[in-house]
Formats: sequence, C-alpha cells, structure tokens
Amino acid sequence: MMKMDWKKGLLLPDARVRESMKTIGQLENIFLNEEARRALDQNTVVYRVQAWCPVPDGTEGAQFWGTTEIAQGQVDSEYFMTHGHFHLKRNRTEYYGTTEGEGALILMDETRRTWMEPMFPGSLHFIPPSVAHRVANSGKVPLRLVACWPSDAGHDYDAVRRFGFGARLLSVHGKPSLVRSET
Ligand code: PA5
Ligand code: NI
Repeated sequence: MMKMDWKKGLLLPDARVRESMKTIGQLENIFLNEEARRALDQNTVVYRVQAWCPVPDGTEGAQFWGTTEIAQGQVDSEYFMTHGHFHLKRNRTEYYGTTEGEGALILMDETRRTWMEPMFPGSLHFIPPSVAHRVANSGKVPLRLVACWPSDAGHDYDAVRRFGFGARLLSVHGKPSLVRSET
C-alpha cells in the first residue's frame, strides 16, 4: 500500500517512491527561445516527478503510478512544461488527472498533428496510442497531476528532443495560446 495526499496530488514520503526532477539547465533545446533559457538560473526546477513502480520496468500487464508538479514560470513567452515523450511501445496509453493548478496537456500524433486539452482541478485525460504528451503550466500556482501508465510502455524522448512538438503553448497578449511551430 502507498499513501497519497489527494489534495496536493503527491505521494507521501516512502522508500519505494522514485523522485526525480528537471531543471532549466537540463532542458536544452526544449523551449523555443534557447537564448532566454540560457539566461535563466540553470538550477531553477521546472518540474518534479514521483513514480511508484511496484514491478520491474518493462513488465507486461502491470501499471505504474506517478505524480508530476510543474512550477509556475516562463522561458520568454513559453510556459514551463515537461520534456514530453512518446511511449517506446507506441500502442501503450496513459491517464493523467489534474489535482491542482491550470494548464494544458499538449498532444501530438505521429504525423505531428498537435492539439491540447485544458487542465484544471478535476480534469481527467486519456492519452491515446502513438500520441506524444507534455504538460505546460499557464496558471499562477504549481500545476499538479497524477498519472497511470502500463509498466511496459517505456519512454521515448528522442523524437521530441530532435523535432519538438507541432505547436507550443505561448503567452500571447497575456493569454495562453497554442501556436503552430514553423517546422
Ligand atoms: O509517465 C508520464 O507520462 C509522466 O509521468 C511523465 O513522465 C512526467 O510527467 C514527466 O514528463 P517527461 O517524462 O516528459 O519528462
Ligand atoms: Ni507517458
């Protein structure tokens, strides 16, 4: 058994929980304005992840559970967001549920068609097969979500690192807007 703080959307401290984080310095070439990213404090935490993986990674037929907290902030006009990934096994799906904050789940299929779903406390999202996913925080507080995914899904970061998504969540005249990328 594990315990959650459901209000915050965090797993309570437990030796079985894997904790990781990504800083501005680790997100090279992820945001549109690389110069603006380099000008920020490289140690600023963009997001923190907790994962409860009760079976070995790659096991067929089980699920993993995790939480993600994306800090409030921007790189130039682009909201702080996760790296984003496809699943290594492309037909593996996932659920995200928002516990706190406001933002967007940005989704992209293998033809680079990109769309978004608004995230708000209580929003529940199904990530279909072969769809890359990332989360951007456009609110005034940390954006927190829980996630559940198959234990053999794996994470493929490479395609996103090389080609990005087909659109980005930018602040345009102070409003979050999904802006198509040129490439
Ligand atoms: O499994 C998931 O999709 C999430 O737990 C993500 O891994 C988490 O939100 C962090 O994003 P990323 O893996 O793209 O860095
Ligand atoms: Ni995923």
